[in-house]
Amino acid sequence: MKIIGTGRMHPSKVVTNQMLEQFLDTSDEWIKERTGIAERRLISSEHLEDMAAEAARQAIEDANLTPADIDYIICSNVVNEYITPSLSCIIQGAIGAKCACVDVNAACSGFIYALDMADDRIRSGKAKNVLVLGAEEPTRMVDWSDRSTCVLFGDGAGAVVVTEGEGMLASRLTTVSKTDCLYYKRRLEPTPYITKEEEFGPMYMNGREVFKTAVLSSARDISTLLKQTGLQPSDIKYYVLHQANMRIIEAIASYLKLDMSYFPHNVDRCGNTSSASVALMLDELSRGGKLEKGDKILLSAFGAGFTTGAAIFEWTK
Ligand code: UT7
Repeated sequence: MKIIGTGRMHPSKVVTNQMLEQFLDTSDEWIKERTGIAERRLISSEHLEDMAAEAARQAIEDANLTPADIDYIICSNVVNEYITPSLSCIIQGAIGAKCACVDVNAACSGFIYALDMADDRIRSGKAKNVLVLGAEEPTRMVDWSDRSTCVLFGDGAGAVVVTEGEGMLASRLTTVSKTDCLYYKRRLEPTPYITKEEEFGPMYMNGREVFKTAVLSSARDISTLLKQTGLQPSDIKYYVLHQANMRIIEAIASYLKLDMSYFPHNVDRCGNTSSASVALMLDELSRGGKLEKGDKILLSAFGAGFTTGAAIFEWTK
């Protein structure tokens, strides 16, 4: 398959580190030094499904298609206001498409899982044009009095349209069940019959553990894909990595012995937008005129699970 359109939508509310200093025991200096984040965009009056629908409209228009041409929608999402129906189902109605839809949850790696599923769908001949989204509001999972997590996240929605073609050169997905270092358990409605103890509360994250696992697993996925395709690290124009922390991106750059010009980033302006981050970055690159036909880009993400996803694309647009 190949990517033929991209789109993105950020919430309007910009929250700077200085704004967080007003109610948290934190500092602009700490946040910038440990994460590279200067500000993030947070949902305030918006609904995630509306943002996702707007990103979808942009991607479809960019692909020179209409919603009627889309024959499958896959939306990567961890949390939103609805448990059911799926976000992709709501997006379908909002944009006026008619196809089957499904959401996937592979945490921050989800957008790459969704792309891989779209590739399968297209290869099997069951779909021609697939709309793939990463739409996330991780700021609704954290405790806003916990400085170790709430400063890290931002919200957003990114979308691509993919179709039959020769753009995706390789992909790799991995999952290792390691559920205790990053999780969020939400409260379910009680029934008269529940006798077990149930825990719920805001997101728990062992930051140091996740940091280490993220660098090692992303570096491994990147090496595997480069080897598989016979490419050298410098043959890739851009490494579009999950935007969790600038230090993670810098560690991967150093592992590959490449300078930071290969690593576009938005974590400084958007925070960690979970599985939307790679999709947002792709649209920023494409609309910013940074991608030319024939460029090779490598996507790599990691997240709760522990999951990882990576893919190499040749830009064909
Ligand atoms: O997409 C989901 C995947 N998640 C990630 O990729 C996150 C990966 N992990 C990280 O990015 C980093 O581990 C963090 C940014 C979360 C934390 O950075 P760190 O360098 O690993 O710091 P730390 O957790 O070891 O904490 C160092 C100190 C602690 O104080 P003490 O115990 O040394 O006195 C923390 O309490 O920094 C303190 N601290 C803060 N101080 C000021 C933690 N958060 C803050 C804060 N402001 N916001």
